[in-house]
Amino acid sequence: MNEDTLRTYESIFGLLPGVDNPTPLVRLNNVLGYDHTEVLAKLEWYNPFGSVKDRIASKMLSEAESDETIRTGQQLVEPTSGNTGLGLTMIANASQYPLTTPLSSAIPLEKKTMLRLFGARVEELEDDLCPAPGAPEGAIARAMEVAAQPDFVMLNQYSNRANPEAHYETTGPEIWRQTSGGVTHFVAALGTCGTISGVGRFLREKSADIKVIGVHPAEGHDIPGVRSIRQLRQTEFFEPEEYNKLVEVENRQAYEMCLRLNREESIPAGPSSGLALAGALRAIPDEPGQRVVVIFPDSVFKYASSVVKHLPGLGAPPVPSKSRREELLDAMIENARHNPELTIDVDSAHELWERERPLVVDVRDPDTYGQSHITSAINIPLLDLPDHLGELPDDREAPVLSVCQVGNTSLSGVLYLNSLGYRNARSITGGTSAWQERGFATESG
Ligand SMILES: Cc1ncc(COP(=O)(O)O)c(C=O)c1O
Repeated sequence: MNEDTLRTYESIFGLLPGVDNPTPLVRLNNVLGYDHTEVLAKLEWYNPFGSVKDRIASKMLSEAESDETIRTGQQLVEPTSGNTGLGLTMIANASQYPLTTPLSSAIPLEKKTMLRLFGARVEELEDDLCPAPGAPEGAIARAMEVAAQPDFVMLNQYSNRANPEAHYETTGPEIWRQTSGGVTHFVAALGTCGTISGVGRFLREKSADIKVIGVHPAEGHDIPGVRSIRQLRQTEFFEPEEYNKLVEVENRQAYEMCLRLNREESIPAGPSSGLALAGALRAIPDEPGQRVVVIFPDSVFKYASSVVKHLPGLGAPPVPSKSRREELLDAMIENARHNPELTIDVDSAHELWERERPLVVDVRDPDTYGQSHITSAINIPLLDLPDHLGELPDDREAPVLSVCQVGNTSLSGVLYLNSLGYRNARSITGGTSAWQERGFATESG
């Protein structure tokens, strides 16, 4: 009974877009400053679960089912900046695949809460806002660790061809048809680069003259879902040679454009839409006959905590600035990270462990420690250290290794040990994840 004209559907999944049921393309009228160039925003929050990522979640899961990568009774694990997890959780709910998603604790609270509400098991980690593939630590490494268990399957949006394919099969053809083949420029913000790869390839096959423009944020940005150049270099589908232009946009400009879109166009676009449009305006000179399509990946509703941070005057209490004491502590931790007297790489740590069996203090919480830790490591969560001095060696010259998941919290641990006089205390860079990745001995319980 799926009937797109009447918008009447068998189930929510009938709302997944395609060429007969495209997401809307809406002309921008007030924020452009062009006399000739027309700009159309493709509003991807009209996907059933709220973002452009529903397309790839659906495609990745249906392919995994048809080639039997996943079978009934198995579970999914996916590292995500939020949107892929949201779409995947809802689509996986229908087939009863539970989803675990390791993600950065920097992801906005709204997204984490919605993931939990939808039924995902969220594991928060200290990681970049957008997880880095190839990095030995963080959400992606953790997801790989979980995926190594027989009952788990990781679809991996960072390397799954179904990601760009979904856009090649749906987003691209939709744009072509919605503009009656008149699109001259396609602009997308870059995250996994699935959107730009799939849509770009489709449109170029239709007309080699169409310009494909990628927009990325500057280093240190706070825009969920997109990646800086450094982060993009670790991304398999990032192919800058395929784009006509690659544009960088400052965090502030992206948020300002997000605000203007909401106020001046009444389009409730999220920060990465602001980023993409700001990039489009910078990259495309005003010329007659141009029709630009910009992807607006999701709406602003999940980003209250982000916009409060980056846009003044929203009526929210000012974000408390860090005290000088906290800043000093942060600086000490950062100094420790680069101090060879306080850190040790995982291979040297392993050699030391084999040779001398030093005390290994795992400073993570007991649950995470219980799942897997370096063999014979004792568990003292960081904040409990002062209550467990009796478990530390009497000899202040004895080697002590401080370890956590990826080597961040353990830096505070080593600073504390150092302050007690343990001159040979070291924090293991890369943490338990790096240790496991090397195949060194771990135990659970
Ligand atoms: C909000 C948002 N914007 C932009 C993107 C980038 O899309 P892609 O991963 O296809 O490059 C994403 C991807 O996660 C996203 O969640």
